[in-house]
Parts: sequence; C-alpha cells; structure tokens
Amino acid sequence: MARRSLLVGFGGFLPDRVVTNDELAAQLDTSDDWIKTRTGITRRHIAGPNDTATSMGAQAARRALDYAGLTPADIDAVIVGTSTPDQAFPATAVRIQAELGMQQGFGFDLAAACSGFIFALSTADAFIRSGQARNVLVIGSEVYSRIVDWSDRGTCVLFGDGAGAVVLSGTDEPGEAGLLSTHLHSDGTAGDLLYVDGAVGRREMSGHLKMSGRDVFRHAVAKLSSSVDEALKAEGLEYGDVSWLVPHQANIRIIEGVAKKLNLPPERVVITVDRHANTSAASIPLALDEAVRDGRIQKGDLVLMEALGGGLTWGSALARF
Ligand code: COA
Repeated sequence: MARRSLLVGFGGFLPDRVVTNDELAAQLDTSDDWIKTRTGITRRHIAGPNDTATSMGAQAARRALDYAGLTPADIDAVIVGTSTPDQAFPATAVRIQAELGMQQGFGFDLAAACSGFIFALSTADAFIRSGQARNVLVIGSEVYSRIVDWSDRGTCVLFGDGAGAVVLSGTDEPGEAGLLSTHLHSDGTAGDLLYVDGAVGRREMSGHLKMSGRDVFRHAVAKLSSSVDEALKAEGLEYGDVSWLVPHQANIRIIEGVAKKLNLPPERVVITVDRHANTSAASIPLALDEAVRDGRIQKGDLVLMEALGGGLTWGSALARF
C-alpha cells in the first residue's frame, strides 16, 4: 500500500476584536445591507497590535497538535500559506517553529494568496508520500487588515484576520481515509486582477490590496467549477459522493454557485464567511476546524475543498475523513 496522508489535527485562532458591518458603515460610504447582500459577510475579526501571522499561526498550530494528540517534537515540517508574513525573512513557518519550541525539522512559507492552504496541503502531502516527512503542520495565517486600504470600500469590507492549522500524518496502513488528491493551477497573465502594489523587494516597502472585483468574481465561478470537476474525475467520483464542501470563504455568492453546480444543499456546505469574512489562506483550515469540532464532518465523509486567489492561483483537494 502506498503511503498516504491522514488529516489528524485541526486548530483555529481568531483575534478578539470583532468589527461589524455597521462599524465600517460609520466610517465609510457603505452599509450593512450592501455588504451582506453582495458578500454574505456580517462581521470579521481584526488583529490587535500584538497579533501577527506568526503569533496567530502558532496558536492555531498548538490547538491542532492538541487535537492530534501530538507534541511539537513529533513534527517534521511546518508549511505556512501566507501573504502577510511578519517579515520578508525569517519565514513565518520558522518563527512558528521557534514559538513551538521545535529544534528539529524544517519550515518555509508559501505564497499563493487565498489558495495558500490548498497549495500548502498539496506540498505537505508530497513530502509525506515521498518519505521526507511523517508529520507536517499545514498552516494558513493572515493579517489582511494590514494590507487593505481602509479608505477603499470596494475591498476593505471583504477581509478579516485569523489562522487555521491542520496536522497531516503519513500512514502505510491500508484504509480508505486520507487525502485522496490535490489539483493546483496558476495563471500569471491574470495577476493584475488581484494584487498588492508593494513589497520589500520593491521601492514601495508596503502596499495595498487592489482588486477588479467583477473580473475576480467571473474567474472564481468558472475556475472553481472546473477545479471541483477535475478533483472528482481524478478519483472516479461523482457530485453525489461529496459529503461536505469546505470552500475558501471569499463571497457567499461564489460559494453558492459552486454548491449549486455540485447539486449540494446549503446544509452540506461549511460556511464561515458570514462571521469571518475572507481570511485568505486561513479560511479553509478555520472552516475545517469548526466543522470537525462541532461534529458536522464525521469519519468516512468525503470532503471537497477549493480556493481561488491572487495570482491568479486556484485549486482543489479531496479528502476522506
Ligand atoms: N458599499 C457600498 N457600495 C459599494 C461598496 C461598498 N462596500 N463597494 C463598491 N460599491 C459600489 C461601487 O462603487 C459601485 O457603484 P457605482 O455603480 O456607483 O459605480 C457599485 O457598488 C457596484 O460595484 P461593483 O464592484 O460592480 O459591485 P459587485 O456587484 O461586483 O460587487 C464585490 C462587488 C467585490 C462584492 C464582487 O465583485 C465580488 O465579490 N468579487 C469577488 C471578490 C473576491 O471574492 N475577491 C477575493 C477572491 S480570493
């Protein structure tokens, strides 16, 4: 039996401060109704002065390790999907290693914007299948509140901060459970539809998120639809086999479009966008954490994950729990 990866631990962290649509409407020309109708978002968590991708990622990681019954000493690799690292280097993953007290293994960050968790999951799975790592912490951690332009109502209302983590663990035992396959894509020709206009490698040290919302919306529906088809086809599965859709949480209308295509009723879709807004690479592991801990996702369930983000990057992952 070929080695495969089991999802054995789940953890999340959200900063204390909650900002409602009404609070944004007090500062911007927007309204609770506009935001809710267009996106499904009612509120979001916003990082406090001491919350960073490292601190939030480390908290989520500790909770995922607890769930898995593992300690930092059991971990061979830490992979962090983030577009909002504390520093250009050391990588957030290496800082998290230090916070967890790890002196073994390796860590690195991966930049795939809102698809960061799917890309990190796929990378971790490849390390496990090749025998280079046995237990891998896969983390998405983001502080988009530090890169959005708070005077741009077209973007700032969409995002929130947070971190999510999953522990992937290799097994050689026969069984149905595990990550079945992942499917990644990127297309740099669409890079200017969603980007940050500055970075440490440019003269502009920090930048703001810029987005052509309508174009991104159009790409999201088309690319996520083909991505879920690709994942199911690769495994010889059909829409009816999917127990749960755990999508990247950008916009309720995009999520509903994909769920409709899959013929999945709303109660089979894990939604956090209403309370978290778009936490980029953190959104899928945060949603997984919620749905595993509250008992919605059960052993034997087939879970389909999908995401699209700046790059453009997009992809999907299928897992049997
Ligand atoms: N409050 C009130 N009005 C707003 C607003 C806000 N927060 N943001 C934009 N508007 C206005 C616009 O200025 C525009 O006004 P105008 O017609 O007078 O010019 C009007 O609302 C419509 O703007 P538009 O951008 O066409 O709206 P939309 O229906 O496309 O919705 C998004 C905008 C951003 C919600 C939508 O395009 C979207 O969700 N796109 C995908 C974004 C995404 O998910 N990105 C992350 C991917 S990882």
